[in-house]
Amino acid sequence: MRVEELEVSQFRNIEQLTLTCPGDLHLFIGANAQGKTNLLESLYVLALGKSHRARSHRELIRWDQPTARLSVRIQRGERPHRLEVRLSDRGKQVVRNGVEQRRLSEYIGTLAVVLFAPEDLDIVKGSPQVRRRFIDTEIGQISPAYVYHLTRYKQLVSQRNSLLKEWGSRRPAETTLLDVLDEQWIESAVPVWRKRLEFVRTLSERAGRIHRAISQGLEELKVRYAPSVELDEASPPETWKEQLRRELRRIREQEIRRGSTLIGPHRDDLRLIVNGFDLFAYGSQGQQRTAALALKLAEIELIYQEIGHYPILLLDDVLSELDDHRKTHLLEAIRDKVQTFVTATSLEGIEKETLKRARIWRVEGGTFTELR
Ligand SMILES: Nc1ncnc2c1ncn2[C@@H]1O[C@H](COP(=O)(O)OP(=O)(O)O)[C@@H](O)[C@H]1O
Ligand SMILES: [Mg+2]
Repeated sequence: MRVEELEVSQFRNIEQLTLTCPGDLHLFIGANAQGKTNLLESLYVLALGKSHRARSHRELIRWDQPTARLSVRIQRGERPHRLEVRLSDRGKQVVRNGVEQRRLSEYIGTLAVVLFAPEDLDIVKGSPQVRRRFIDTEIGQISPAYVYHLTRYKQLVSQRNSLLKEWGSRRPAETTLLDVLDEQWIESAVPVWRKRLEFVRTLSERAGRIHRAISQGLEELKVRYAPSVELDEASPPETWKEQLRRELRRIREQEIRRGSTLIGPHRDDLRLIVNGFDLFAYGSQGQQRTAALALKLAEIELIYQEIGHYPILLLDDVLSELDDHRKTHLLEAIRDKVQTFVTATSLEGIEKETLKRARIWRVEGGTFTELR
């Protein structure tokens, strides 16, 4: 798929911008704090209905402005689509082809993006939360049902936590309320787990193959799902539910003491293993970078496999972080397939060959000037 025209108004430090995007490669060059990431963020928000870095959508609205608006025209296969995001103090509206979508799960998926930024090294080095967020975002783009189940699941965890806390101070004679919540929790946890296990299995295959190629056959990357409860992937959902019921009973006292749901997808993690060693603990910086790159490239392939279109790729300040060998690998992997938006502080270190086929913009104080 391809972005054809992007319109941004009153978003972050960008007052007004219309960008037509013929071609596959767009470079945004500028000093720090000029609006490069803001531009990539606008595409990310159009794709996923929320930002990868803002806690609240209000942060996205230009200071002193009541509203912000983003709009994009994309070509996906034979069909054009228009997506629109309107932000205001009162809330957020997402609109596809002129029709407002009530649920984010119904909106996302039309424009698929893969973002690769220096923070992505945190997928390897950071907390479990970062890895959960990574898989949730990726699965969300290919499965609206997943977003639906995950949203419901998170609500149930928070309801359950409130009830457990309440019970910690004053235990009621009746247990029905928690029993009912437990059942609902199980019903939404199971599809989330199923999808994650399936996704991580394919991700591991793909990323493993890419990692082997980048490391010239020297290293083997595996991605493993590390659940808070051992669940046998081969058993049917009914068996899982039975097992989870027993588990919740077993840990109920402990959960009441702690006032918190102690098992479930919100407590799980991923393990990244290279040649049998845990990357988190033992990987060198170089190995961690290669793994992060392999995961991102695997994501591109997975999205293609699932929806039949390549996503657009947003590369935020990463070219300067990658050595020549990894950079060449990345650029070759996406060449002629994936429309790419790249930010950098200078053109230095970007090969002539790449520059020749790129459109280049200078970014300064939220304004964009085309250099070529
Ligand atoms: N809501 C906002 N309104 C106006 N300016 C903002 C807003 N949020 C961030 N900015 C400004 O955007 C700039 C940072 O832009 P960013 O795209 O992250 O920089 P970079 O070019 O380094 O990637 C900063 O100058 C910051 O003050
Ligand atoms: Mg930036």
